[in-house]
Formats: sequence, C-alpha cells, structure tokens
Amino acid sequence: MSDTANYLSFNEALQEGLKGSKPERRWLVPLLDCNEDDAQELYKAADKVRDAHIGPGIHLRALIEFSNYCKKNCFYCGLRRDNKDVERYRMSPDEILDAVRDAYRLGYRTVVMQSGEDPWFTEDRLADIIRRIKAEFDIAITISIGERNEETYRVWKEAGADRSLVRIETTNPELFKKFHPDDDLQERMECLRNLKKLGYQLGSGVLVGLPGQTPEMLADDVIWLHELGAEMIGVGPFIPHPGTPLKDNTGGTVEKTLRLVAVLRLVFPFAHLPATTAMGSLHPLGREKALKAGANVMMPNVTPIKYRADYEIYPGKICTGDDAAHCRGCITGRIEAIGRTIADGKGDVIRKNTP
Ligand code: 5AD
Ligand code: SF4
Ligand code: FES
Repeated sequence: MSDTANYLSFNEALQEGLKGSKPERRWLVPLLDCNEDDAQELYKAADKVRDAHIGPGIHLRALIEFSNYCKKNCFYCGLRRDNKDVERYRMSPDEILDAVRDAYRLGYRTVVMQSGEDPWFTEDRLADIIRRIKAEFDIAITISIGERNEETYRVWKEAGADRSLVRIETTNPELFKKFHPDDDLQERMECLRNLKKLGYQLGSGVLVGLPGQTPEMLADDVIWLHELGAEMIGVGPFIPHPGTPLKDNTGGTVEKTLRLVAVLRLVFPFAHLPATTAMGSLHPLGREKALKAGANVMMPNVTPIKYRADYEIYPGKICTGDDAAHCRGCITGRIEAIGRTIADGKGDVIRKNTP
C-alpha cells in the first residue's frame, strides 16, 4: 500500500488511539498488525478506556436463534442455502414467545432475535411477534435477520423493535463480492444507513480472518463503522465450516480478533462491544480475553435446546448442548471469575460525545 510510509510506530499509534484521534490507517494499521508483546499493552489500554468510560458492568443479551432457513449463499456460512446437511427449523410465534418468557424469567431484559434470511417471516408476521413480545414484557428487542427494505424496517420499528444488527462483514469491495454471491456492498451499506435514519440503536460488525483480508482492510472497516455511527459492534473470527466453499481455508484467530476489539474500544469508547460466541468457540477463554481487551457485552443463548445444534453457522459452536438456565449460570460464573459485574437494566446504547 502506498501509504505504508505514513504508518506510525506502535507507541505513537497507541497515543493517537488514547487521544481519541479520528480513525485513520496510519495509526489503526500499526495497532491491528502489532506483535504479541505490543498486543498485551494494547489490550490493557483498551481495558482501561472501557473501565473509565463505562465501568465494570457487562450487559447480557439473550439470543434466540428462531430460524435457520436462509435464502442466501454466503461462502463462509454453515447456514447457506446450498448446505443440504442442515436440518432446517423455524420456531413458531408461540415458541418464540415461550423463549422470550424463559429469557425474562432468567433475568434478561434484552432479547436478540436472530435468524437466517428467512422470507417466511414477512413484514406482518414479524411485526405481530414484536408487538406480542412488547405487550407482555418490558424488554428491549434487537432484530438480527438480515437485509430488508426500509419500509419493512420502519414497520418493525413502529411495532416496537429497539435495535437492529446487520454485520457489514467486510467493507472491501473485492472481498465482499467474492464471498456474497447474493449481495451488493453498496446496498448493504444503504441498509445500515436506513436503519440509522429510522432511529434504531445500530449494530454492525465484521468477520476477522476471511481469506485475503489484510490489516488495511480491517482498518477501513473501522473507519467506515465510525462514519456510519455504529453503536454496537460485534466481531468474531471466521471459522471454516466443512459444508461451505471455504472449508479448506485457514480461519481467523483469537489474537487478530482481540486486536480489533481493542482498537474498536479506542475508537468507540462508549460502544457496546460483545465478546462473541465465535471467540468462545475458538478458545475456552476467548470471550474472557475479549472482555479484558475492551468488550462489555455477552450474548448467552436461550434458543430451545432441541434446535441449538442445528444453528451451526460454524463448527465447534459452544453451548449447543446446554439449556438457557445452564448458560445463565455459566456466564455469571465467568463474569465473576474475572472480577466484573452484570450490568442492570436493558443496556441501551450510550449516546455521548467523547469526553
Ligand atoms: N465463522 C464465524 N462467523 C461466521 N458467521 C457466518 N459464518 C461464519 C463462520 N464460518 C457470522 C457472520 C454473520 C453471523 C450471523 O455469523 O458474521 O453475520
Ligand atoms: Fe444466511 Fe447470514 Fe449465513 Fe449469509 S451469513 S448464509 S445471510 S445466515
Ligand atoms: Fe453456554 Fe457457558 S455460556 S455453557
């Protein structure tokens, strides 16, 4: 890259991050690409920034994987439509309400409703479900169901959806195109901007370690997420799935992902950053490592146990044999073990300028 010459040293770059400088490649890349010793310093710095801005509390979001049908064929994903080895399921509206009830009883005050891109959940059907949840529970609803048009997202917002998650995955045009046969990068970006305009608390994220991805590309992702005004950013390592075209590739690593989590905390001091399930799936303490490098959110699974193993986005996914109550206890133990606390309330996004 022609701007390599402008790159700062690790120490200079970290200072830019701590000053809250505008995100630019010249300091993002040296952090994203730093050596293992420097990385320890980066994580500590991000952990301090997290503590100073938002404190020790970890927000819990109960994840309901309500359908694994997907009309798309993303090259990396186990749920892609051409993967015929997936036992497809779709929870009924009543089953979804039951799962929300379980979540509420376990003390969760946010549910994340996640699925593949499943057209059975039409605008009307999902709006009805959202209204039923909101009528029965004082709980925040996040929808994570992929790209839909602005009008549909408007209807869901009016029905009571508070937050939305649509990962951009990568902002690199070549990479995006290569791995998303059904998608257009500009349209995905437009979808996210629409969600922002509609007033959703806005989540996005990227996959780390896609074949051909460079630290420069990850830096560009951070810059784009900043321009977008993302408020929740989930990042996880790409884990190759045997039922996909990328099965023989090397995946992402915990270490690369941690560097990105830490950089995100420097750039977004108040954002909600989850320690993702993919981190916990690659390493038994992957989520804890993320929580010590800037993350402040965990997303325990409350999907009914009979469906869990079938939501196999990637192999080795944790918690597929554990029920909602078990995961609740497990998460509590893990949070206490690292000296952190469970935050109260719904954990809305924090809309503040940097201090
Ligand atoms: N490894 C890790 N994460 C994956 N995702 C999809 N496939 C994989 C994989 N093989 C992530 C994508 C998607 C989210 C639902 O899961 O980022 O947005
Ligand atoms: Fe479907 Fe999402 Fe998987 Fe793509 S990443 S195949 S849209 S579930
Ligand atoms: Fe599910 Fe630990 S979070 S078993």
